[in-house]
Amino acid sequence: MTNMKEQLYAVKQRAQEALDLATTSEELEAVRVRFAGKKGELTALLSQMGKLSPEERPVIGQIANEVRGFIDAGIRAKKAVLEQAELNRRLEKESLDVTLPGKARTVGKQHPLNKVLDEVKDAFISMGFSIASGPEVEYDYYNFEALNIPKDHPARDTQDTFYFSPEMLLRTQTSSVQVRVMEKTQPPIRVISPGRVFRIDEVDATHSPIFHQIEGLVVDKGITMAHLKGSLELICKKLFGPETKTRIRPDFFPFTEPSAEISISCFKCGGEGCKFCKNEGWIEIGGAGMVNPKVLAHCGIDPEVYSGFAFGMGLERMVMGRYGVDDIRMFYENDVRFLNMF
Ligand code: PHE
Repeated sequence: MTNMKEQLYAVKQRAQEALDLATTSEELEAVRVRFAGKKGELTALLSQMGKLSPEERPVIGQIANEVRGFIDAGIRAKKAVLEQAELNRRLEKESLDVTLPGKARTVGKQHPLNKVLDEVKDAFISMGFSIASGPEVEYDYYNFEALNIPKDHPARDTQDTFYFSPEMLLRTQTSSVQVRVMEKTQPPIRVISPGRVFRIDEVDATHSPIFHQIEGLVVDKGITMAHLKGSLELICKKLFGPETKTRIRPDFFPFTEPSAEISISCFKCGGEGCKFCKNEGWIEIGGAGMVNPKVLAHCGIDPEVYSGFAFGMGLERMVMGRYGVDDIRMFYENDVRFLNMF
C-alpha cells in the first residue's frame, strides 16, 4: 500500500515536471497522453488496484482521484497559457499597418473617339433621331450600286476599295446603311449610323485605311436643303461650341443632288486662319446633300411624295480638330499616355 501511494505521488511529481517543460500544444498533448491517457501511467497504476485489500482501496482511490484532478487541472491551466502565447505570436506575425497608404487601382478611360461619338449620338437622339447600323463586310450593291454608283462610274475611283470578290467588299462609306434603312422603312425616317469604313490608303498623319464615319438620313414630306443646313448648324454648335459657324459649299456625290461639302469654322483660330486649318479658317468635316430621287425610288420610296437629306461626317476629323490631335495614328496605337489625356 505504501508502495502504491508512493508510486502515485511519483506520477504526480513526473507529471508536474513534464508540464513545466511543455512549450507547445503538441508537447502538452504528449504529456496528457503519457499521464492521463487511456494507456497512460495513471491508468496503468490503477489497474493494479485489484491487488489491494478492501480497506486499502478507498484510501488509494482517493489519492488516485486527487492525482488525476491535479494532472487535469495542470493540463487545462497550461493549455490556456500556451494558447494565449501562440495567439500572441500569430497576431504579431500577421499584424498589418492600417496606416500604410493603399494601392490605387487604375481605372480604364473611354477612348476619345467613343467619347465624342457618344456626344454625337446624344445630340442626335435629343433631336428625335434613332441609331441604325449595317455590316462592315458589305455587298457592292449597298455600298455602290443602289447609291447610284454603277460599276463603271468614275466616283468608284475616289474610294479605293478592298474587294473580297466582285460582289463583296469592305464598305468604303456608311452611306450603305442609308439604303438598308430605306429598303425596310417608309418615311418619316430620322436615323444616324456611326461605324467603321475601309479604304486602301497608305498610313500617315492624316490617313488610315480604317476610319469612322457618322451617316445621317432624314426622309419625310417637304424636306428641303434648309432642313439640312439647320440641322447641321444645330448639331455643330452643340458639339463644338455655340460660336461655331457651319459652311456648306457645292460638291458632288452620285447619291445626293444637289450635294454639298460641310465645313465648320476652325476650332483653333475660330476662323481667323492658322496652321491647323492651313490658313483657311474652315475645316471640312464631311459631305451632304439632298437624297437623289433615283436612290429614293430604288429603295421603294416615292420621290414624288417624299424628299430627304443625308450627310456623312468623319469622326476622326472631328475629334482631331476638337482636341488638337495632329496625328490620326494616335487613335489606333492605344498608348495609355495618349488616352489618359482626354
Ligand atoms: N459617303 C460620302 C463620303 O464618304 C459622304 C456623304 C454622305 C455625302 C451622305 C453625301 C451624303 O464621302
